[in-house]
Amino acid sequence: MLRPRHHFTPPRGFLNDPNGLVHYAGEFHVFYQHNPLGDTWGHMSWGHAVSRDLLRWEHLPVALAERDGAMIFSGSAVVDWQNTSGLCAGGEPPLVALYTEHGPAEQTQNLAYSNDRGRTFVRHRDSPIVAIGSRDFRDPKVFWHEPTRSWVMVTVLAAIRTVRFDVSHDLLRWEHASDFGPGDPEDGPWECPDLFLLPVEAEPGQRRWVLKVDVQRAESARYFVGDFDGRVFVPDPEIGHDLRVDGGRDFYAAQSFSDFPDERRVWIGWMSHWDYANVVPTSPWRGQLSIPRELRLVRVAGGLRLAQRPVGELALARTPLLRCAATDLTAANRDLAATGGGVAVEIDVELVPCHAATCAIAVRSAAHERTLVGFDAARSELFVDRTRSGATAFSPAFPGVHRRPVSLVGGRLALRIFVDTCSVEVFAEDGRTVLSDLVFPEAASTGIELLCDGDAHVRSLEVFQLEP
Ligand code: FRU
Repeated sequence: MLRPRHHFTPPRGFLNDPNGLVHYAGEFHVFYQHNPLGDTWGHMSWGHAVSRDLLRWEHLPVALAERDGAMIFSGSAVVDWQNTSGLCAGGEPPLVALYTEHGPAEQTQNLAYSNDRGRTFVRHRDSPIVAIGSRDFRDPKVFWHEPTRSWVMVTVLAAIRTVRFDVSHDLLRWEHASDFGPGDPEDGPWECPDLFLLPVEAEPGQRRWVLKVDVQRAESARYFVGDFDGRVFVPDPEIGHDLRVDGGRDFYAAQSFSDFPDERRVWIGWMSHWDYANVVPTSPWRGQLSIPRELRLVRVAGGLRLAQRPVGELALARTPLLRCAATDLTAANRDLAATGGGVAVEIDVELVPCHAATCAIAVRSAAHERTLVGFDAARSELFVDRTRSGATAFSPAFPGVHRRPVSLVGGRLALRIFVDTCSVEVFAEDGRTVLSDLVFPEAASTGIELLCDGDAHVRSLEVFQLEP
C-alpha cells in the first residue's frame, strides 16, 4: 500500500491517538500512541516527529517508552514558560509531557520533562502526580488558565463517562476541582477530552468554551459548548446536548495544539476506528493522522456549532490541476478526465443540484471501485459512500455509507474534499459539516467524476495535486 502523501504516518508499526501536540522554538511536535514493536495495538509508547510547516515531518526516536510493565497512554504537552514547575535548566523553559501510565492495577497521570527541545524526556521522580486508585482514569489534557493563573488538567473516568478537572500551580501537585458527567450509558467509554476557548465567528469579542470527548461506541466524538471558570465547566443550557464532531467513522481522539504560534486553535485527529484499527490493510505502518484543522464557533439557528477548516498551510502543498467556472457536468467531466485525477488531491467544488435526487463526486475512481461524496436531496444529507471504495472485506464494520444533515445555501453546495492514498476528508458548509473516512483503493484508481442526475450543474471547480 502506498503511503499517504499529505497525512502523517509512522515509519513502521502501529499508531493511534495524537499526543502532546505542542509548538516550541519554531517546531511543531507530534507525539503519538505507538507500538514500536508491531503493527497492532500494544507496547504503547509515545512516537515522535517534528515539523516547521505542519506539512513535512521529521521522524524522531520514541520519546516515552513503555516501562516496567506500564504502557504509556495518551496525554498532552505544554511549555512551562514561567518555570512554575522549577524544571527549567539552562535558561530554556521546559517542555512538559503529562500522560497516563497504564499499569496492571491502575491508570495514573505522570509527568516527564525535556530540557532539550523535546529530544529527550526524564520521568519526574514525583510521578505519578495524580493517582486515585482507578483502572479507568486517563488521557490528561493540560493547559494554562490565565485568569486563575493555574494549570488545568482535564481527564476522563472512562468507564463512568465522566470528565474530571484538576488544578495546579506547578504542574506537580494537583487538586481535584470538579467533574462533568456522567454521559449516556449508550456512549460506551469516554476518552481523550479536550477543552479550549474559541472565538465566535463574526461576533467580535464573543468567545465560548468547547469541551470535546471521544465516545468509543458512538459514531463520533461529542462536544459541549459552555463556560469554564478555571474549575468547573457549565454547558450553555440553550445549546443542544447531542453535538457531534464528525459524521464519518475515522476521526477519533483529536487533540488541539498547545502554544500554537498564532491565535488559531488547531487540532489533529487519529483517522481510524477501534472496530477495525488493528486490521486495516496497510504496511509496514498502520494508522494515520488527519490533516490539521483550524477550529471556530459559528452561530446557527439552534445555537453555536463547532466548525473545522483545513489549515491554510496546506495550500503550500498544492499544484493546480484544473480550474473551471460555471459549466455543465459533461464539460466538467471531460476536463476532469483530461487531468487523470490523482491519488492525493484537493477538490474544491460548488455544485448546484437543482432537481437532482443525488449529486455526487466519485473520487479514487476506476471501473471497479470508487468512493462517492455526495448530496442526497430527499434526506438533505451529505454522504460518503465507501461500500465500493476498494479493499473493504478486512472488517464487516468497514463498508458503509456515512451521512450528516446539510443545507444548501442559495441552492448551492460548496465542498472541499481532501483525498489521499487511504483517506477522504470532506468539509461542507465551510466546515460546519465534516465527514472523515478511510478508504483503500488501488493505487491506479485515480479518477474523479461528477455523477448527478437531473439538471445539476457546476458553479465552480478547482482541483489541486496535494503533495508537500
Ligand atoms: C483512545 C485510547 C485512549 C488511551 C489510548 C491507548 O484511542 O483508548 O483512551 O489512552 O487510546 O492507546
